[in-house]
Amino acid sequence: MKPKVLLTHPLLKEAMDYLAEQTELELATSQDFLPHSELVQKIVDKEGLLCFLSDTIDQEVLDHAPALRAISNCAVGINNIDLKLARSRGIIVTNTPNILTEPTADLTMALILATTRRIVEADEFCRQGRFQGWRIDLFLGQGLQGKTLGIIGCGQIGQAVARRAQAFGLKIIYYNRHRLSPDREAALKADYRQLDTLLAEADIVSIHASLNPDSDHLITGDKLALMKRSAVLINVARGAIVDEKALAKALKTGQIWAAGLDVYEHEPQIEPDLLSLKNVVLLPHIGSATYETRLQMSLMAVNNLLEALAGKTPANLVKDS
Ligand code: DGY
Repeated sequence: MKPKVLLTHPLLKEAMDYLAEQTELELATSQDFLPHSELVQKIVDKEGLLCFLSDTIDQEVLDHAPALRAISNCAVGINNIDLKLARSRGIIVTNTPNILTEPTADLTMALILATTRRIVEADEFCRQGRFQGWRIDLFLGQGLQGKTLGIIGCGQIGQAVARRAQAFGLKIIYYNRHRLSPDREAALKADYRQLDTLLAEADIVSIHASLNPDSDHLITGDKLALMKRSAVLINVARGAIVDEKALAKALKTGQIWAAGLDVYEHEPQIEPDLLSLKNVVLLPHIGSATYETRLQMSLMAVNNLLEALAGKTPANLVKDS
């Protein structure tokens, strides 16, 4: 008998077709938003759950899932799942690590360039028919050569950003829970700093930490106040690492120069004050959104779930962090 599986939102077709062949599949919704009450209702008889970072898998969901054996999260971040509780109930949790590293690092560079060179503002200017000719002071931005990039969270994605940043002539400093080995630091040409020192020294601060109780609101108003007035903040990790209201205030008052965001504290809601500011570039959480990567993520999430439901140890079992 095929296992009963709940898929909260569609996957890319190839992966979804494969999952439908191998399981008794229910697709909870084809909309962007799945109400929590519907998730709770639909999980009742399921052995497997394939979900996304927008689905909150909390005690209420787990209490309604007596048959649940495996949760496959189609994301590398697993902050949407009550991991401890799932584990205590013998439920296997998997994620999709490694494959998102390069596209997310690419998008980070895109945000660094978009903010420092004011790309979005300049594009709007052209579309509005306001380009009247070359001018010496038109859309002056900031160059990267010789500036300092401060990486917060120097795991795989942070390190991939560091490698790219070297090619742009950026000096690299980083803050991480665990300091990297001297060899790794040398390969990345990255120097370790305490968080406050990094914030004060960097021209661009880029966040690549995972969200956990230690990193929740790591960047408060007080921390933003340590940054240079000319500094740029980039966040492609998780919105809640930054106090979004404090960030909007810092951008509005010129306490920092600009920000580039791919993630939000209360996703998909965006702090209304940010929406009217010209010095922030806003993206809809597309760090991993290349066709290649999203297909790989979809297939990996399906394979993880099928392996777990077949009683095997899945390749991407989430272990203790
Ligand atoms: C993840 O996987 O955690 C990313 O944020 C979404 O691609």
